Amino acid sequence: MQKYTLITGASSGMGAACAMELSSINNLILASENITQLEKVRCKCRNSEKHILWHVDFAKERSSVAESLANILKTNDICIDKYVHFAGITKILPVKLFPINDIDNIFNVNYFSIIEILRVLLKKINNKALNNIILISALVSIRGNVGNSIYASSKGAINSLVYSLAQELAPEIRVNAILPGAIMTPMTRNLNETYLEEMKKETPLGFGTMEDVVNYVRFLLSDKSKWITGQCVIIDGGRSTK
Ligand SMILES: NC(=O)c1ccc[n+]([C@@H]2O[C@H](COP(=O)([O-])OP(=O)(O)OC[C@H]3O[C@@H](n4cnc5c(N)ncnc54)[C@H](OP(=O)(O)O)[C@@H]3O)[C@@H](O)[C@H]2O)c1
Repeated sequence: MQKYTLITGASSGMGAACAMELSSINNLILASENITQLEKVRCKCRNSEKHILWHVDFAKERSSVAESLANILKTNDICIDKYVHFAGITKILPVKLFPINDIDNIFNVNYFSIIEILRVLLKKINNKALNNIILISALVSIRGNVGNSIYASSKGAINSLVYSLAQELAPEIRVNAILPGAIMTPMTRNLNETYLEEMKKETPLGFGTMEDVVNYVRFLLSDKSKWITGQCVIIDGGRSTK
């Protein structure tokens, strides 16, 4: 059975950059809601014909995520040995003004989709293939920030998941999170300018690049990190020192 790396959030930003970087060495399942964008990313990947697209809306289809992924495995007769979760959405707003639907969407995409995916990857259907999980959290999960409570707490849930899951799944599967600071991507480009200026001022090394995160993903996926599990690794250009 052929082994694949699942990358969620592969249609944009860091997920897309990671897909292109890994495409020469791994078979990929690229997941996101925007199928047109996902197809464009596949075309930019090396060996594009062998990568599989998973069209899924983590916000609206939480109860069918597991079934939809199980279908991908069955239809293609493949298993997943590595899983990198980049999918994420944000909204900056004080808690008292947050619409309940937006709260549900943020938690569904950023956190609950991970649980639904794992409910498939840890079962018989995946042939005990899984050996590496990398979840993209955020620096704000451990540093307070006005207007960011909902997004930050959805990422904080990821950090907690990593600590327990690393124990639960060892020694077969390593589980780690990456906590990026400010990286210029479509997500950050949509934030207001004053907020971006603040972030830049607070970061000794300035904004990070997508490559800064993707390089670390490559390291965590490789055997060079074989003794690292249960870690929430900060990659933030020094912002957390402030
Ligand atoms: N950029 C930063 O400074 C920064 C800092 C800390 C942490 N992060 C985290 O890093 C990750 C990647 O962020 P990015 O900056 O690269 O953001 P991005 O360019 O906005 O990418 C977000 C990805 O999530 C996918 N996604 C959003 N809603 C979805 C849904 N309902 N169903 C399925 N997929 C969905 C998007 O795909 P579709 O739009 O196609 O659905 C897209 O591929 C996120 O988890 C983010 O929270 C980013």
